[in-house]
Amino acid sequence: MSDHPPTDAPLHGLRPRRTRRTPALRAFVRETTLSVTQLIHPLFIVEGRGVRKPIETMPGHAQLSVDQLEAELRELLSLGIRSVLLFGIPARKDATGAGAWDPQGPVPQAIRELKRLAPGLLVIADVCLCEYTAHGHCGIVHDQSGVVDNDATLPILGRTAVAYAAAGADIVAPSAMMDGQVAAIRSALDVAGFLDTPILSYAAKHASAFYGPFRGAAESTPAFGDRRAYQMDPANAREALVEVQLDVDEGADLLMVKPAGSALDIIRQVRDAFPHPLVAYQVSGEYAMLKAAAANGWVDGPKCAMESLLAFKRAGADAILTYFAIDAARWLRDGGA
Ligand code: PBG
Repeated sequence: MSDHPPTDAPLHGLRPRRTRRTPALRAFVRETTLSVTQLIHPLFIVEGRGVRKPIETMPGHAQLSVDQLEAELRELLSLGIRSVLLFGIPARKDATGAGAWDPQGPVPQAIRELKRLAPGLLVIADVCLCEYTAHGHCGIVHDQSGVVDNDATLPILGRTAVAYAAAGADIVAPSAMMDGQVAAIRSALDVAGFLDTPILSYAAKHASAFYGPFRGAAESTPAFGDRRAYQMDPANAREALVEVQLDVDEGADLLMVKPAGSALDIIRQVRDAFPHPLVAYQVSGEYAMLKAAAANGWVDGPKCAMESLLAFKRAGADAILTYFAIDAARWLRDGGA
């Protein structure tokens, strides 16, 4: 006979709650962690001096001229952020996006300045033409149909990657979604002597409405048509594996999935199928939604942001490109969120 009072609850059995009871137990069984060294901070570089133009739809972010980078860098380094990804907004745009490979363009200038100030910073340069073409498409178009000439675009992407490598970029990151772009960039880099510059391929990139705020920030909204003939249908996941396989075959060293929040399944599948380092890109719209909801007091902003970042890690990402990098670094440092 037991001395214990009778109870309806089972006295033994499977009770996962046992390991959730105290902070120490929860910390002990936590499967996923986020570290500041895994965060990549995006920067928008404009020409001119003394420019710090806030991006309305992405609170906390601004278009910066090169002279503003020192202050930005001080903040990043003090928080332990070691990686940045650069987008450029040129003063002039043209039909072929020639500004993309101009050695005096905003991105090469920013790379040189960042490397001068902080040689140990990991500088990743986005390689695409949409910020540099007058029509806003990611490659060459011959008429208003918006059809991008894939093969005519490849040498320009190669030339752009070489310009960024020559300026000192640690990694080039093609995001134009042209077929064969990784191979074209690899051979252009090799021919130019940049055999050791890795390629981070935006391998699986949906034609997503979540890029809206970015296109305002980078002034790259297509003047006509849309990107659905070169970016992937958001309905597709198996196709992402085809895209990734091709990029790997063409020589991609690191892989990216974008947007991250609506493609957690793809992050997981790429992680399971490929051993390469994998970056999740939490894009502008994902950031803007959380910031807007938080500003209205509808959600706890820091907690939701950290939960979203943790989800990318849980899905299998090694690193995260996110507009929350600075916020997250602060929350990690202060032990909150
Ligand atoms: C350039 C590029 C885009 C983004 C990153 N690189 C825009 C697009 O494809 O339209 C979007 C990133 C974001 O929304 O934060 N091709």
